[in-house]
Amino acid sequence: MPAPDLDRKEETKPAGIPLRIHQIRDGLTTNRLGKHIHYFREVDSTNSHARRLAEQRTPEGEVVIAESQTHGRGRLGRPWVSPPYVNLYLSVILRPTLPPIDAPQITLMAAVALAESLAAFIPVFPAIKWPNDILAGGKKLAGILTESACHGERVDFVILGIGVNINYPVESMPDAIRQRATSMLGLTGASVSRENVVRRLIQGLDRCYGELEEMGFQALAPRWEARFELRGKKVRVEMTDRIIIGTAKGIDRDGALILEDGRGELQRIVAGDVVPVGD
Ligand code: BTN
Repeated sequence: MPAPDLDRKEETKPAGIPLRIHQIRDGLTTNRLGKHIHYFREVDSTNSHARRLAEQRTPEGEVVIAESQTHGRGRLGRPWVSPPYVNLYLSVILRPTLPPIDAPQITLMAAVALAESLAAFIPVFPAIKWPNDILAGGKKLAGILTESACHGERVDFVILGIGVNINYPVESMPDAIRQRATSMLGLTGASVSRENVVRRLIQGLDRCYGELEEMGFQALAPRWEARFELRGKKVRVEMTDRIIIGTAKGIDRDGALILEDGRGELQRIVAGDVVPVGD
């Protein structure tokens, strides 16, 4: 008798409950987003897949969702841990009419939509950590990765990628992220319907994107500022070539962080990691 194939048995274990995409589509009442959802059990990265679609002239608003990612990406080239069937990995193709210089406003708009959407599912106020993190109870619940392609003076497309920790048990997270990350399950102690989260998020993004396109970021800025958890706090900003310590004042219209340094001068930070100092 052949020896039992233990590896094979491992592969055929129940994989988890897949997202019911029709439930998401059925409840959607959006203007531009989510009319078509490309759904995968596994992709390299939903952002990479959405980019490939966008390069083939796929229209604005199409959404890519995967149950897991083999090469999920975070900001600054970091990996995004993407276990199957517990979280949300979603990317949207946008073709905004913004000039390239205003493209970072897409991240700010998405942070507002994401924080407001997640607020409906958790008992704490989701805050925004510049530029792209959503924190709940001081820990990271979700992240945003926007990647754009420009053609001369216009934006060809923006891929808006969002990862949300939903039913991911905190105790299963790798050591390196467990200290600073959380999930809806961790916050509520109960499983959350991923379909409801996705539907509310697509609705929220559709509404906020419409406001951005029609009225500009000024229409959303007060809601962003209301969730900006570092305002007035002393922070350290780590950039590729230097570190600045100062007081976080807010953001400018391009989405840059405004910091008042030790000499009272205002510094404009376009990219970097912000860490509160002395809390
Ligand atoms: C960050 O906080 O650094 C951004 C994380 C963004 C992760 C999402 S998951 C869906 C999409 N696909 C990716 O490869 N990354 C984004």
